[in-house]
Amino acid sequence: MSEQDTLAVQIRELEEKTKKLIVANKLDEAVALLMPHHPKVLWNVGEQFLNVGDLAHAFVCWRKAVILIPDDQYLHIRLIRALSDADKRADALAVAKNFKMSVPGVDRSDLTTEEKMLYCITENIAIVSPEGVAGLVRLTDHVARYNIPGAFVECGVYKGGGVAIMMHALMQRGQSDREFHLFDTFAGMPVPGERDVYADGRSAHEEWAQKLRPDGNSGWVVSTLDDTRRFIKRTGYPPPQGSLR
Ligand SMILES: C[S@@+](CC[C@H](N)C(=O)[O-])C[C@H]1O[C@@H](n2cnc3c(N)ncnc32)[C@H](O)[C@@H]1O
Repeated sequence: MSEQDTLAVQIRELEEKTKKLIVANKLDEAVALLMPHHPKVLWNVGEQFLNVGDLAHAFVCWRKAVILIPDDQYLHIRLIRALSDADKRADALAVAKNFKMSVPGVDRSDLTTEEKMLYCITENIAIVSPEGVAGLVRLTDHVARYNIPGAFVECGVYKGGGVAIMMHALMQRGQSDREFHLFDTFAGMPVPGERDVYADGRSAHEEWAQKLRPDGNSGWVVSTLDDTRRFIKRTGYPPPQGSLR
């Protein structure tokens, strides 16, 4: 057996032992078992519980894993999103509160708990940086706080991640009757012109052409109308919520 195979067997055994301890409610023993190896095994065990639909034990593993590995951005994002998907919003906020989102060279210590949570639950859906999320939340807060009338309009909505951030922020402030009018091609980026270039001079047309699908449709940030509707529906923002065009 190769060294790699031996290691894989050892990890599988470790995972099995950990699983049994978690089911027997012996979290401390599971942690003691894992510490000489790597606490990330606890996360993997949580994934295995999730795969068989045992969300309660998955959360036991994941909550402890983020405490044991406080600097792992991915684990925090994944746990906050899973808690939010399971409608455990207060728990998601509690994890977000302790999530140190700053990375070397980028200080994000002024992000609020709400902003961190909204970044986590829209990551991979919105093309928005943590700073962008903070901007959207703060603008929405301003509009809600001062009762500025009118609908929200977004041109280039993609999957609706940015919209979801604004909808969540409105709902958090007890407002869910504001209309949203959302525009996109719902077929990806249209053909860039000559003047569409990056700051470093690279042509956008080149990138667009590289991503072109064999059927001739754009393959660059494509979300269909149905997919965007589905993502936005997940926010729970009550319909009618304006229009998608
Ligand atoms: C970078 S994505 C936008 C990200 C989005 N705002 C979010 O919150 O994640 C750009 C979007 O703009 C759309 N788009 C670009 N040019 C457009 C045009 N001329 N008309 C309509 N939609 C356009 C694309 O289809 C794509 O979905």
